[in-house]
Amino acid sequence: MFYETAKNDHGLSRPPFKACVVPRAIGWLSTISADGVSNLAPYSQFTNLTFDPPYVLVSINQGSESQRKDTTRNIEETGEFVYNMVTYDLREAMNITAAGFEYGVDEFEKAGLTKAPSNLVKPFRVAESPIQFECKHFQTIRLPGDGRVGTADIIIGKVVGVHIKDEFLLPDGKIDIVKIKPLARMGYSDYTYVDKVFEIAPSLQAGFSTDLAHGLEGATGSMPK
Ligand SMILES: Cc1cc2nc3c(=O)[nH]c(=O)nc-3n(C[C@H](O)[C@H](O)[C@H](O)COP(=O)(O)O)c2cc1C
Repeated sequence: MFYETAKNDHGLSRPPFKACVVPRAIGWLSTISADGVSNLAPYSQFTNLTFDPPYVLVSINQGSESQRKDTTRNIEETGEFVYNMVTYDLREAMNITAAGFEYGVDEFEKAGLTKAPSNLVKPFRVAESPIQFECKHFQTIRLPGDGRVGTADIIIGKVVGVHIKDEFLLPDGKIDIVKIKPLARMGYSDYTYVDKVFEIAPSLQAGFSTDLAHGLEGATGSMPK
């Protein structure tokens, strides 16, 4: 099948688009308002952008009344946010924080989550989450939309600090992703989580330098000789 997005004539009973780029990591973003109230919400239009230095991106649609969501407002007013990794075990708490609470409602409290202080930014981290990034707002790009929730604010943040719980670090220096069971978003209201990992070594025959192969792993600088 083929459909033109401007016509949206896919003919399916369910919208296919979001199910075509899966699984998507969920950026569970904590922020703090200018007057000090915490906010927490999940965003699956979220990804890392680069790693030297690391940046992340989140795309936040405007609400049904074309107003900016609380996360957007807080990031733009205070310049900071925290990415918290969502796990399978945290799925119900994450879902509670997605509810459209009024501005000024603390979703940590609503979901019964614990606040952990950050080192370099004001917003709290989700203590129950295994991995968190402390981020500073770099830039917002606004994408024009077609419908009431179509307009999106693409927020780019620079990662200034990374927390990883020691209990999820393996002796070989890798993170134990299978133990963490990261939750990911699919299309519709479907989710999945990582319970299997396998390795494909970069092919040095395909014209990669060893430095480039090392960079694909996320390392910066030259590979140790
Ligand atoms: C798993 C999941 C992923 C979501 N991803 C997005 C997203 O990428 N962009 C967006 O605008 N809303 C997304 N939402 C909806 C927001 O979480 C929801 O609108 C929330 O109330 C926003 O909270 P806030 O106003 O406190 O920022 C998602 C919801 C869930 C459950």
